Amino acid sequence: MKKQKDFIYKCSSCDHKEPKWLGRCPECGQWNTLVETAVTNVKGKSKHGETHSMPKTLPLAAVDPMEGNRLSSGIGELDRVLGGGIMKCSSILVGGEPGIGKSTLLLQAAAAAVTKGRILYISGEESAGQLRLRADRLDLNKDKSVMERIEIFCSGNLSEIETVLNNVKPVLILVDSAQTLYSEDAGSVAGTVNQMKFCSFELINWAKEHDAALILTAHVTKEGIISGPKTLEHMVDTVLYFEQNDKTAGLNGTTDCRFLRAAKNRFGSIDEIGIFSMTEKGLTPIEDTGRMFLIRREGDLPAGVATAAVLEGSRTILVEIQALTIPAKGTISRVFSDKIDSARVSRISAALEKHLGLRLSDQDLYINAAGGIRITEVGVELALACALYSARSGLALPADLAIAGELSLTGEIRPVRRLSGRIKTAANLGFNSFLSPSADQESNIIASELSGKIKTAKDIKTAIKLIYG
Ligand code: TYD
Ligand code: MG
Repeated sequence: MKKQKDFIYKCSSCDHKEPKWLGRCPECGQWNTLVETAVTNVKGKSKHGETHSMPKTLPLAAVDPMEGNRLSSGIGELDRVLGGGIMKCSSILVGGEPGIGKSTLLLQAAAAAVTKGRILYISGEESAGQLRLRADRLDLNKDKSVMERIEIFCSGNLSEIETVLNNVKPVLILVDSAQTLYSEDAGSVAGTVNQMKFCSFELINWAKEHDAALILTAHVTKEGIISGPKTLEHMVDTVLYFEQNDKTAGLNGTTDCRFLRAAKNRFGSIDEIGIFSMTEKGLTPIEDTGRMFLIRREGDLPAGVATAAVLEGSRTILVEIQALTIPAKGTISRVFSDKIDSARVSRISAALEKHLGLRLSDQDLYINAAGGIRITEVGVELALACALYSARSGLALPADLAIAGELSLTGEIRPVRRLSGRIKTAANLGFNSFLSPSADQESNIIASELSGKIKTAKDIKTAIKLIYG
């Protein structure tokens, strides 16, 4: 027997029929007039009269690829981290410590999102009055249409929220926060992990079924106990975490920046980061990030400082890597490094000790990256090695030198990806020389055009000789 579709969506004003729900009837242009209508099909009826719904598979080729199904959040940095915007039918979790800016990001996205449909902001954290105050602070009240299209609902009660969703039929749902959601169907105690999981799951499904997108926030406590949001990670399509720098003074420009990183993304890479600063007018994207993690100095660098040209997703940033070595206080030496993985620091220092005869194993090592940015890219290793060498020897590196390279345990320096891009950024920021394991033709052309010099070294010993002569 041929299976027929069970439901269609019929416009209550012009009777136009659509196979799936839309916020606006394409025929008459009315909003929220499409209603779910059951299709009774005579052919599909059994002898008892009820309609059969046979489970059916679909050839992969026949599946809609969902291309072009993204909507822009209107916030470039957020779109970048998401892989080009918010995917429809998807769910996004934004985690972070209290006070980092999750609610602000949600409200700003609600105001800036590029969509004609309605936007529902559900808050179990704040009252409508508080939201209004925040909106005023963000200057959203300047645009009346923005203020009108954002519907506010302040509750964490799932059944109430579902009623509201079915009435408003939003295309973008913002929920602040997952921890405030509760439902009587998920046990008697509100605020438990079960409640949060149950309610989030229901909302994720609602969004999927109604062609909407959902953004949920979740708190991560200072101690890093993430039992809450972690349990939601597998349910959502995308997980973003907000991190904050430690407000290092002396940086160029902004001192208070927030990094938005993807920990999981079904629709894009997890390499991209969004960089914002929290200003009087909310989260402001920082576009010129090349110089942000450098410290402005007149003249020479102090010993223990090296400039690394590293990749952060699609952009290159120059970061000052700082190293300090002091005789170990205990019987075993320790590594204090939270911006670069300590295991990486230990490995690099072991390689330096072995191949340069530089004694580091009796030293406590302190490593920092200016601007408080966490660096995971492998291209930072050569700069880290140079900073450590400089710290231990007391010999400062040239101030106009930028460095990129991967250091192997054998002391060899391995090539890095997108070298020419790194050289270009460094040259644009006024660095005249560049240390790397190799230089391809493109890099040489870029360097010569920008009056820069590329120094190449195949191993750490040669590199140190090249720098210090
Ligand atoms: P918030 O979004 O409430 O953080 P979260 O939801 O993650 O707990 O924002 C927190 C901080 O940001 C708060 O300390 C006030 C500050 N802030 C600004 O500096 N400027 C602004 O325009 C706004 C709205 C907030
Ligand atoms: Mg909040």
